[in-house]
Amino acid sequence: MQTVVSGIRPTGNLHLGNYFGAMQNFVKMQETDNCYFFIADYHSLTTHPTPADLHGNVKQVLVEYLACGLDPEKSTLYLQSDIPETAELYLFLNMNAYQGELERCTSFKDKIRSQPENVNAGLLTYPTLMAADIIIHKAHKVPVGKDQEQHLEMTRTFANRFNRMYKADYFPEPVAYNFGENLIKIPGLDGSTKMGKSEGEGNAIFLFDTPEAIRKKVMKAVTDSGPTEPNQAKPQAIENLFNLMKALSEQETLQFYEDSYNACAIRYGDMKKQLAEDVIRFTTPFRERILELLKDDVYLGKVVKMGRDKAHESAAKTIKEVREIIGFKSF
Ligand code: TYM
Repeated sequence: MQTVVSGIRPTGNLHLGNYFGAMQNFVKMQETDNCYFFIADYHSLTTHPTPADLHGNVKQVLVEYLACGLDPEKSTLYLQSDIPETAELYLFLNMNAYQGELERCTSFKDKIRSQPENVNAGLLTYPTLMAADIIIHKAHKVPVGKDQEQHLEMTRTFANRFNRMYKADYFPEPVAYNFGENLIKIPGLDGSTKMGKSEGEGNAIFLFDTPEAIRKKVMKAVTDSGPTEPNQAKPQAIENLFNLMKALSEQETLQFYEDSYNACAIRYGDMKKQLAEDVIRFTTPFRERILELLKDDVYLGKVVKMGRDKAHESAAKTIKEVREIIGFKSF
């Protein structure tokens, strides 16, 4: 049995990108692997949430994990901040993480561009904390979307560097994982290639969105005046709509619109109406379970405690061994 670790930052509700890139793999993997799924609340501090927002977001993501079908009996569901061992391993890894390699990381460069007023050390060392999350349980597989590929590469670098430095064959090499062939990237509705919570208004569809909100967002999705030649290549925004349809709609529906596009007979208004209804059909059961679970604080408390205990057992064992390998000996 292989060990699996992954997490999602509690910075808002889960969107379709989180679901198709990560969550749908979590749900499948819990059936066969030794899984640790956490809520990355330490990571979310890079954006300085208020205490009330932090707690509310953690609760929402916990509820959404459960509503998506994660079973706390089958996998270990926990809060990152409940396992301080991760923070200790992060400290050790940071001692051997180089400024240059951290600065070259694409996600860091993106943040410098998008939020120049808040370029903090937490952002710079985001990949070492993520590596600590993964190797604290000596994971083999990490279900994530395509945007996390480089972070996984860095995780392997840090794990290998530790092994080499201390001449210990200790950490396995974790790989980014998806059940399909390739890692997934779900596009946004605004014509950008990535659906994300920090992108602009109207880019993302959340599992918790109401049907009205979904209709409004999808109908506003960027399109153009339509193809002028048969079998014309699709511009990015149109390709995005087709990709969303591919993830959510029936194969025949997708085929119908593909054929209409290729014959220059497509009506984007009709396509969007259909897509909105398919999204609503998909998200409604999640929304209903989320609403139920939000009321059950007692159950949520039990889930968090159970996860904390199980995750702590694994993390404490690793950190004890790591301390010995590094040379911290008791007198
Ligand atoms: P976060 O919260 O940005 O995203 C959570 C997961 O959702 C995936 N994802 C997407 N997949 C496909 N298409 C999209 N448009 C899309 N948007 C988001 C992400 O790839 C991710 O799998 N760094 C992580 C959180 C984290 C983590 C970890 C993950 C912290 N420590 C250790 C794995 C292992 C992140 O940014 O998540």
